[in-house]
Amino acid sequence: MFHHHHLLLFFLLLHHIPPSTTAGHWSLLLPTIGISAMHMQLLPNDHVIIFDRTDFGPSNISLPAKKCRADPNDMALKLDCTAHSVEYDVSSNSIRPLTVLTDVWCSSGALKPDGTLVQTGGFNDGDRVVRVYKSCDKCDWQEINSGLIEKRWYATSHILPDGRQIIIGGRRQYNFEFYPKTSPEEKVQKLLFLAETYDQDIENNLYPFVFLHTDGNLFIFANNRAILLDYDKNQVVKTYPEVPGGDPRNYPSTGSAVLLPMRVVQGVVAVVDVLVCGGAPKGAHVNAKNGKFDKALDTCGRLRISEPDPKWVMETMPMGRVMGDMLLLPDGNVLIINGGSSGTAGWENGRDPVLKPVIYNPDKPIGSRFEAQNPSTIPRMYHSAAVLVRDGRVLVGGSNPHERYNFTNVLYPTELSLEAFSPSYLDPSSFIYRPKILSSTTRFQYGKQVVIRFKVQSQVDTNLVYVTMVAPSFNTHSFSMNQRLLVLDSGNSTEITGDLTYEVGVVAPPSCNVAPAGHYLLFVVHRDIPSEGVWIRME
Ligand SMILES: *[C@@H]1O[C@H](CO)[C@@H](O)[C@H](O)[C@H]1NC(C)=O
Ligand SMILES: *[C@@H]1O[C@H](CO)[C@@H](O)[C@H](O)[C@H]1NC(C)=O
Ligand SMILES: *[C@@H]1O[C@H](CO)[C@@H](O)[C@H](O)[C@H]1NC(C)=O
Repeated sequence: MFHHHHLLLFFLLLHHIPPSTTAGHWSLLLPTIGISAMHMQLLPNDHVIIFDRTDFGPSNISLPAKKCRADPNDMALKLDCTAHSVEYDVSSNSIRPLTVLTDVWCSSGALKPDGTLVQTGGFNDGDRVVRVYKSCDKCDWQEINSGLIEKRWYATSHILPDGRQIIIGGRRQYNFEFYPKTSPEEKVQKLLFLAETYDQDIENNLYPFVFLHTDGNLFIFANNRAILLDYDKNQVVKTYPEVPGGDPRNYPSTGSAVLLPMRVVQGVVAVVDVLVCGGAPKGAHVNAKNGKFDKALDTCGRLRISEPDPKWVMETMPMGRVMGDMLLLPDGNVLIINGGSSGTAGWENGRDPVLKPVIYNPDKPIGSRFEAQNPSTIPRMYHSAAVLVRDGRVLVGGSNPHERYNFTNVLYPTELSLEAFSPSYLDPSSFIYRPKILSSTTRFQYGKQVVIRFKVQSQVDTNLVYVTMVAPSFNTHSFSMNQRLLVLDSGNSTEITGDLTYEVGVVAPPSCNVAPAGHYLLFVVHRDIPSEGVWIRME
């Protein structure tokens, strides 16, 4: 025992292990974008589409001159000359107001293979609307009324291997449907699992965590357990065990979840893991409504869904978190950011902001995977959002736990600001290791070889180069829909010109179950330092 402690101390001194809270860097990008970022999606032209809801009353940004929205259905303002959606341009750090007519509150979405955002549902007059946004300098939302069969409020969307989307659940909807439909006769499909996981009155199964498994089925997690669904036949092909402890992880006991990075080796993804983190204990939502704010869950469950009979492996985060966001970073780590340490989601129900993000390294031994990061100064509670952008930063915005915009006499005033969190791989000290992609094919065909040329400021350690590809996700309510990261099968990189220019050969993902067609950010990573991404299209 004594010797053991001595050794540990010696080890600590020898390695000068930095305190665990000095990593990462925050910057305020814009003090206000005029709306509170409740939903965010990065588009393949580096613009980010952002919106909250149309019935918040006036926002803090006007629509272009003389444009107003007259909506007899709006519950806050029948004539509204303010915008509730904006487009943010990453490179110029500027915004442009957009016009959305029907209510997009608590909706979902996904990018089509051609990069068009298809966003579905919402509230009130928007609950069955499908909206399409294709980015260009003057573009705006296009809305398709009655695009959905059922009302979808708090539903989850996922892109499918055939390019369609599935929209699952929503308030009091124990079913799913597709968009677009293959025929006008196509009906909704019942999903009993959503009724079974519904906790009386408080739900705890909204915005289910949905991932496309590499076998073509959908992994669906709601409340405290999951199924594997063959959506074509509407058959539950597997039922997974409950997460130990049984506490709920979905809205309003909002935790978050990711499909961990998937390594492709010789055309096969052998290991597929899901990680679910945080949430609120059973009963927390009712307690919060009565003024008692229970401590958030500090546990994560990791499930190897590539195994025939997997069991949850539990891990403990440095702190509890509810309403956190989990984002896959280009180096294959997971960023856990935003949220509070007590209470639940919903109006006025959260407390004690968690200002420190945490990085989870899935490859480290259990017990040493989490590292707390430098804190922000801005609470990001209910209705906050975060997305990865091409240069490796994470945009963070939103937070409005109030029924209307409220900037005074409240615990967590409505946040209109936009910040960026820069993980430590963007530190200036990493500059000499950072690859810069010089060229790559931008059209990736399934299973085909691609050669990527890159440059580094110093001699490359060719064993320490890998290539990742990340799908841009639709983030809202602590879940990033369609998020996935692949580590591509690559050869050794070779120097080709003697001036620190290298080439690495990779094989594009094997199938649309592994990587649905569409846009991805491609990164060359050297010594765990990612390049800026380049957009490629999987087809
Ligand atoms: C938003 O507008 C309201 C009303 O004009 C104003 O009181 C408030 O200070 C503004 N907030 C921000 C962050 O711009
Ligand atoms: C903001 O919240 C406070 C406290 O609940 C309330 O008194 C006030 O009326 C609210 N303001 C607005 C603009 O809703
Ligand atoms: C990469 O190089 C190492 C030796 O440096 C060799 O063992 C390995 O087979 C090479 N890998 C590939 C994919 O060529």
